[in-house]
Amino acid sequence: MQSAVRMTGIVKRFPGVVANDGVDLDVRPGEVHALLGENGAGKSTLSNILTGLYRPDEGKVEVNGQVVNFASPKDALHAGIGMVHQHFRLVETFTVAENVVLGEDDAPFLMNQQAVAARVKEISDRYGLAVDPSARIWQLSVGEQQRVEIIKTLYRGARILILDEPTAVLTPNEADVLFATLRAMVAEGRTVIFISHKLDEVMKVSDRVTVLRGGRTVGTVDTANTSTRELASLMVGRSVEFSRVTRVNRADNSTTVLELTDVTANDDRGRVAVQSVSLTVGRGEIVGVAGVAGNGQRELAEVIAGMRGCSSGTISVAGRTVQSGRARVAIDSGVAHIPEDRLHTGLASSHSVEDNMALKNYRSREMSPFRMLRRKAIREQATGLVDRYDVKTPNTSTPVRLLSGGNVQKVLLAREFSAMPKVLVAASPTRGLDVGAIETVRDRLVEAAEGGVGILLISEDLDEIMSLADRILVIYEGRIVDDLSAVGADRQRIGLTMGGVAQETVR
Ligand SMILES: Nc1ncnc2c1ncn2[C@@H]1O[C@H](COP(=O)(O)OP(=O)(O)O)[C@@H](O)[C@H]1O
Ligand SMILES: [Mg+2]
Repeated sequence: MQSAVRMTGIVKRFPGVVANDGVDLDVRPGEVHALLGENGAGKSTLSNILTGLYRPDEGKVEVNGQVVNFASPKDALHAGIGMVHQHFRLVETFTVAENVVLGEDDAPFLMNQQAVAARVKEISDRYGLAVDPSARIWQLSVGEQQRVEIIKTLYRGARILILDEPTAVLTPNEADVLFATLRAMVAEGRTVIFISHKLDEVMKVSDRVTVLRGGRTVGTVDTANTSTRELASLMVGRSVEFSRVTRVNRADNSTTVLELTDVTANDDRGRVAVQSVSLTVGRGEIVGVAGVAGNGQRELAEVIAGMRGCSSGTISVAGRTVQSGRARVAIDSGVAHIPEDRLHTGLASSHSVEDNMALKNYRSREMSPFRMLRRKAIREQATGLVDRYDVKTPNTSTPVRLLSGGNVQKVLLAREFSAMPKVLVAASPTRGLDVGAIETVRDRLVEAAEGGVGILLISEDLDEIMSLADRILVIYEGRIVDDLSAVGADRQRIGLTMGGVAQETVR
């Protein structure tokens, strides 16, 4: 059978990195072909080459058996290749129909808007891409905007569609709807290249999988003949354990370490972001907060960490009310924090690993008259932590900004846990990390809970919450809309409440 896409020996160099280092990819017509790899594996670069955004330094690209040399995305589109990027390229103030025709060769605004709307509707009906052609982009949810991008590529006649990490912005239920759309497209003979680093999604939607690691093709396998475990080890180059984390100690709910009562707080623009939130975390308990990004999670974490004041309500740690909006007060009362934005709010990125690890106890040490001793103590502490947290760094005086994301996160965890907190607020602690680093971070969280730390785990990754938490809260538009035990929790119900469907109607 002739390949829909065949890329052979693709090399693409950027200053200082070889993003694609001899990649081979062979995609059959009418299949969903997943391109799987960790962050930085070279997936986006490869797809940008296929869509004419980049030119390869070496290698050959064939589409339907013809060698092609695309100079622009327009060339690629002429060959039937369309791409849905990670970041959408829509004009906010235009309607769906206007966006769909935008950039077409023949003057778009002279075209019959009704005809366009009718065609958009036809495409959206055929593939289950529900969206109103006359709605303006700013009125749409992220999931709907993504549908517009897909409709746009289909409208232009793409036979081969590339979607770059399309589920990163979706709720689990929206992702399932997208998968149905992808299956509908291949059922009609189109070809889909689905880029992801999420194993379960790849297992769910693809026919075959090509795994990239470090800019090279590791292999291509039939989805039906592989497993998440095999894919994980292909992706990271060694075997990975994936079992549900079993915990030694169960949570001790009789001792509450964190309690929020009716807490309300604003976001940076002065709008209410956290609304009358009441919650408790017991000693040794991991409480997950599930939700789609932007529903008040960041503000909630900041309020608990003392980085944001609340407009009403109270926060208490280990039974004592703490003044809101004072980071030092929160730290002194035993609150540790892993922020979303590790490099900017979490760490001093141009400072060394050892200085960052010492940052929390800096004040007391600064008072010390024995500066030399202090340096030695800081270094010794850092050396121990680097070892225990498996931080891959040349040495402890390396600036944090030179470390990879996973290692940055380990530095942060090491520092926060070494302060012996009572409570840890962790915001998306494994987001963007590779599988190996995810394991280390999760193990350390569980270990801390077993040692009695109460953890509030805020994450968009429902699998992560399901595998670590004892109890799950769902946040939507700043409110806690559901509260359930993690054991036997119903994913579908959580997914729906995350998407704003009222909990009573879900049951
Ligand atoms: N435009 C660019 N300039 C410089 N380096 C880049 C550029 N695009 C990607 N890279 C680098 O190439 C490597 C592969 O990146 P990418 O293709 O984005 O990987 P993935 O999509 O698998 O996460 C990374 O090391 C990345 O930093
Ligand atoms: Mg990418």
